Amino acid sequence: MTKVLVVNGPNLGRLGVRQPDVYGKQDLAELTRLCEQWGSELGLVVEVRQTDDEAEMIGWMHEAADHGYPVVMNPAAFTHYSYGLSDAAHMVGDAGLPLMEVHISNPSARDEFRKRSVISPVATGTITGLGFFGYKLALEAVAHIIAQA
Ligand code: DQA
Repeated sequence: MTKVLVVNGPNLGRLGVRQPDVYGKQDLAELTRLCEQWGSELGLVVEVRQTDDEAEMIGWMHEAADHGYPVVMNPAAFTHYSYGLSDAAHMVGDAGLPLMEVHISNPSARDEFRKRSVISPVATGTITGLGFFGYKLALEAVAHIIAQA
């Protein structure tokens, strides 16, 4: 079974208490449970991770590229400025692996600084504004792409 890394960036460990009007009332543990369930329904082994550390997230992209893991990524605030993470995400694509960018909210409908993503140009696809359901769609996209390969 294909292993998929579902990686979450800074402050997403605070889901449930952080701006519930924007990000919902469910926490990271619930997101993890849902992603594992959706993954198993699609025949994927899903590993959900979260970090506030840019270097750690970059390291996870190296790991994905080296081991052949497709990636579902919510880069959180790194989305808007991390060229290091963008370059690392590029390497996942270079390894022939899908990388789906997910945002719980719709960043384009929010602050000006959220309108730009340095990850989108190197992502296979981007899903925004659908809450946790966006992760389900991203996992479905990964399963679809793998099946076609
Ligand atoms: C986010 C949107 C980002 O702008 C923000 O910095 C986040 C979460 C989202 O999931 O909607 O932390 O990626």
